[in-house]
Amino acid sequence: MDRIRISGGHELNGEIQISGAKNATLPLMIASLLSDETLTLRNMPSLADVNLLSRILGNHGVDMAVDGKRPGSSGGCGDTVHLTARTIVDTTAPYEFVSRMRASFWVLGPLLARCGEAKVSLPGGCAIGTRPVDLHISGLEALGAEIELEDGYVVASAKKGLQGGRVVFPKVSVGATHNVLMAAVLARGETIIENAACEPEVTDLAQCLSAMGARIEGVGTPTIHIQGVDKLHGATHSVLPDRIETGTYAMAVAMTGGDVELVGAREDLFEAATDILRQAGVSITPTNRGLRVQRNGSALAPVNVSTAPFPGFPTDLQAQFMALMTKAGGTSNITETIFENRFMHVQELARLGAEIELDGDTAIVTGVDSLNGAQVMATDLRASVSLVIAGLAAEGDTIINRVYHLDRGFERIESKLGNCGADIERLSS
Ligand code: EPZ
Repeated sequence: MDRIRISGGHELNGEIQISGAKNATLPLMIASLLSDETLTLRNMPSLADVNLLSRILGNHGVDMAVDGKRPGSSGGCGDTVHLTARTIVDTTAPYEFVSRMRASFWVLGPLLARCGEAKVSLPGGCAIGTRPVDLHISGLEALGAEIELEDGYVVASAKKGLQGGRVVFPKVSVGATHNVLMAAVLARGETIIENAACEPEVTDLAQCLSAMGARIEGVGTPTIHIQGVDKLHGATHSVLPDRIETGTYAMAVAMTGGDVELVGAREDLFEAATDILRQAGVSITPTNRGLRVQRNGSALAPVNVSTAPFPGFPTDLQAQFMALMTKAGGTSNITETIFENRFMHVQELARLGAEIELDGDTAIVTGVDSLNGAQVMATDLRASVSLVIAGLAAEGDTIINRVYHLDRGFERIESKLGNCGADIERLSS
């Protein structure tokens, strides 16, 4: 298993190209199931999760070509991928796949809408919380699906097709919004989704579906109206820039000091995070190509943060911000409201010398003068990258184990940081 070695203490200077967003790419790829024509996606990130989803969709009958080559033969930023689901050959998503990537559960809505049936393994728990799927199921039932749970599978059918309905989510869920939205575009009549997720990735999916001929209004607000259509057609769509990758590199620069332009970044996608970083003493300014992040000598101020659905501070940046606050000049409270168990990075940050106490859903972080390199291991993607940020500022060598978590969501992280002056390398085993 690969590891990453970082020798801390180097400022970051230069530019980093922001990739297409992982969490937009996955539902966009799944949307290809809704049409027998080709969906072309541009600005696709090259990530382990994208490769895995390609295999999963291939199992359902989606044919994929990357710039004329087969998947796996090309990589790197800005790839264009053509997905064609001429015929759905299998409506079952087996445990072996769904247990490895939760987002693959989102094939349920599109398969049901297009084929009238789907059998999808329950995704099960994961390192950041129990993560149930009750909202996905109740949402699809509101569109007339009959759903049973059998031997760990969600077995759904709509023999006469889905019928538009009113879906009121008791809690904001990004995934359930994606799933129901993709089902509703091919349902008969009108669907109204209330308390829908407003995350930019939902908006990106809706824009792609609209380009494919779907009729959707109210996207980006908590109430989405969808008029079902008989058929979707092919389209070309460009994946929006990754706001979590943007925020992560902004926090890395905030941690080390320096001056980096995040090329392709869009501030409107993560204003809650830029506000917090500015309060911490970081300068963030728009440029023609993206955003410039600078911290020159000034100390980091402690800032309290509570995660919330968009436009609030994203849970996917909580671990990275905690890493940053370990070096702030004072105490900050970081509250996690989305997932009940997303503090797995705390004990690993403590190995590097961080002072963090947990009190229920709040981490109380007292800034220290210095962190010290150590061996660490992470249990999920964002926790892993928080250790990278801490390692960039730690004295001596930090070795991060289980790098496969990072590869799920960060494209070429060691070269992006290395090009800006970080002393970072991948140790292959
Ligand atoms: C998406 O997960 C993202 N994943 C997550 O990013 C992100 O942390 C999360 O949204 C919140 O922003 C992808 O886009 C691939 P949710 P999702 O349904 O859709 C509860 C990363 O690091 N809930 O919005 O699975 C749930 O337990 C990942 O890139 C139910 O109770 O998250 C949680 O407490 C990790 N019942 C809350 O809702 C349900 O049926 C929000 O989860 C569904 C969710």
